[in-house]
Amino acid sequence: MLELRDIQKTYNPGTVRELTLLKGFNLKVEKGEFLSIVGSNGSGKTSLLNLICGSMAPDAGHILLDGEDITQKKESLRCRRIARIHQNPAMGSCSGMSIAENMALAECKEKRMNLRPAVDRSRLPAYRGMLAELGMGLENMMNARAGTLSGGQRQALAMAMSRLSPADFLILDEHTAALDPKAADLIMELTERMVREGGLTAIMVTHNLRYALRYGSRLIMMHQGGIEMDLRGEEKRSLRMETLLKKFNDISIECGN
Ligand SMILES: Nc1ncnc2c1ncn2[C@@H]1O[C@H](COP(=O)(O)OP(=O)(O)OP(=O)(O)O)[C@@H](O)[C@H]1O
Ligand SMILES: [Mg+2]
Repeated sequence: MLELRDIQKTYNPGTVRELTLLKGFNLKVEKGEFLSIVGSNGSGKTSLLNLICGSMAPDAGHILLDGEDITQKKESLRCRRIARIHQNPAMGSCSGMSIAENMALAECKEKRMNLRPAVDRSRLPAYRGMLAELGMGLENMMNARAGTLSGGQRQALAMAMSRLSPADFLILDEHTAALDPKAADLIMELTERMVREGGLTAIMVTHNLRYALRYGSRLIMMHQGGIEMDLRGEEKRSLRMETLLKKFNDISIECGN
């Protein structure tokens, strides 16, 4: 279980741009949960993911992973358990390296190695098999540089790479936002399958309310650094788009957007 306990976060303290975003923020994510987070721009979604992944430290409070306090643990160590897929497909792989080299890099992440990983040829069939499962033909392009792939292909590659690490937490920050509708739907299907088959715990930030409704076991709506709605189980399953949209609009109107 992942737990955020009494988290405080203020940006630019002591300046005119001071912003206290999180104040006594609490969240528990159970093992195997697939949590979707929605919320307007600036509501704190990415900040929350940054705190979980360790790319930003809280001013106070604790982050616990299976009971272990990881608040002070470096991002580079947390990524053994927590894989992250970014909004920008280019962030998940190295442009100048081939698909095979990127897969090798993901697999050797924890080992000491040169900047460019040597691809162990005996691993190629396994890589091909994983890529074939994505249904995007990447298994036939093993020598193509990642920089030449489309956004959808590249995001799928990043997801396959995440499965080569032992991480059992998947953090997705608007990972379909830069994709066309068809590629986005495909990546969402892949995400759902990967989470289910890998028994992963997933936290997905999305502006796509349709995805938040359709996928995942729990849905949270954030607003100004707080949780405005938290639904799971039957409550989540029976939630209708009109209700979700109305809640979203009511909140936006409240703060004058
Ligand atoms: N590094 C930072 N320094 C100062 N302020 C920041 C920083 N990161 C975020 N903020 C502020 O914190 C608030 C929340 O930002 P955050 O990026 O977490 O929102 P978000 O919900 O992810 O928004 P979006 O939907 O636009 O991605 C915003 O007002 C933002 O300007
Ligand atoms: Mg964001």
